[in-house]
Amino acid sequence: MNAHQDQQHQPSPEGTRLGELWSILPEESSRVDGPEGGELAIGGIPVTRLVEEYGTPLQIFDEAGLRRQVRRFVDGLHERWPDSEVLFASKSLPVVGMYALAQEEGLSVDVAGGGELQLALAAGVDPARLHFHGNAKSDAELRMALDAGIGTIIVDNDDEITRLERLLTKPQKLLLRVIPGVDAKTHASQATGGLDSKFGLPMDQAAQAIARMQAHPLMEFEGVHLHIGSQILDTEQFAEAVEKISTVGTFDTYDVGGGLGVKYTYDEVAPSVESYLDAIVEAARANLPEGARIMIEPGRSLVARAGVSAYRVVTVKHTGKTFVAVDGGLADLIDIALTEQRYEPVLANRLDEAWIETAQVVGRQCESGDLLVDRAQLPPARVGDVLVMATTGAYSYTLANNYNGALKPAIVFVRDGEARLVARRETYEDLLALHAPALAG
Ligand SMILES: Cc1ncc(COP(=O)(O)O)c(C=O)c1O
Repeated sequence: MNAHQDQQHQPSPEGTRLGELWSILPEESSRVDGPEGGELAIGGIPVTRLVEEYGTPLQIFDEAGLRRQVRRFVDGLHERWPDSEVLFASKSLPVVGMYALAQEEGLSVDVAGGGELQLALAAGVDPARLHFHGNAKSDAELRMALDAGIGTIIVDNDDEITRLERLLTKPQKLLLRVIPGVDAKTHASQATGGLDSKFGLPMDQAAQAIARMQAHPLMEFEGVHLHIGSQILDTEQFAEAVEKISTVGTFDTYDVGGGLGVKYTYDEVAPSVESYLDAIVEAARANLPEGARIMIEPGRSLVARAGVSAYRVVTVKHTGKTFVAVDGGLADLIDIALTEQRYEPVLANRLDEAWIETAQVVGRQCESGDLLVDRAQLPPARVGDVLVMATTGAYSYTLANNYNGALKPAIVFVRDGEARLVARRETYEDLLALHAPALAG
């Protein structure tokens, strides 16, 4: 029996919330015996061993759980609506190894910009399965995508149509992004479907843009696209979006974007993939043409749970509060500062000990907002402990930055007791490589 099947039987020592934590940690997480008692293992390898080998901060992905989650989407949508396609919203984990995994498991891929396009091509993704997003694509990016033989471009605006009129030399599949006027219940920075959105065209401007594309001999206009936002926990909002997109007209393809939310904390409740797919497909049956092709673009909900961030505790201070400071921070986990996302921490090397201390888990960047967890419940932390933040697989690497000269973390995929490095840690040489030498004297 693997760790995933056995999860209900994982230990939940008194004075901890470990019993609940198993549903937030990667599917292939388990407790193993270590020198200090119970330890957290992912994909069959103790986290302590992974951080010894690869250093910290380290992003660890449960590859088996990740692949399983991808299949839930791909198979689940296909069973419900055979003429369908699931796109990996690659901004959630833009890593060559992930693009390759996505293709292997039957996903197409959405890229938003030249950089993501390059990563996808480097992973060997079939260009015909790539979809190109963006509200401000440049001529150079469009040319790069066309030269690569991109499958579909999701057109955002009239200027982009003008650009394509200039650039197209052969037939090109296109979708148009529309603004559905659905105010997603999520953090303001993650809502993209409201009438004031910068993405796409409002419904009343869509018809004219569509007519322009339909009239062009090289533009193969296939249908419409929307995306109402991210970390959405109410499936009704997706059903509403499907209903809204149906009012634009009758087309071959309807791409209803991504956005399914995930459970980050003990108290949060997130819809299952199945109930999300049910909501979309029910709304599609009620509103969309029977023979239409449906596309969805999950990102966060594909990769968030499979990934964790591991840190070393560098210092513990009992001043105004108890501060547990780790060797990472908002340079590798900025979502907390951007969207007030809360994550749950655990001391990976001391799994069985009671969580009797309330601590501020802080990072090492020079901001008081670099607070990884406010009032975390932990065993009294010690220097050298390994602190793991759960459910950090989505958008953490994407948003990693060099604040205070921080180096981008390494990423490992672990599976069946084997680890493989999919992105090495940035080095000081990498950091310096961008800069011209200072003038002598
Ligand atoms: C166009 C588009 N599709 C899909 C996604 C993926 O969203 P999520 O990661 O919430 O599933 C995004 C990200 O916000 C997006 O902008």
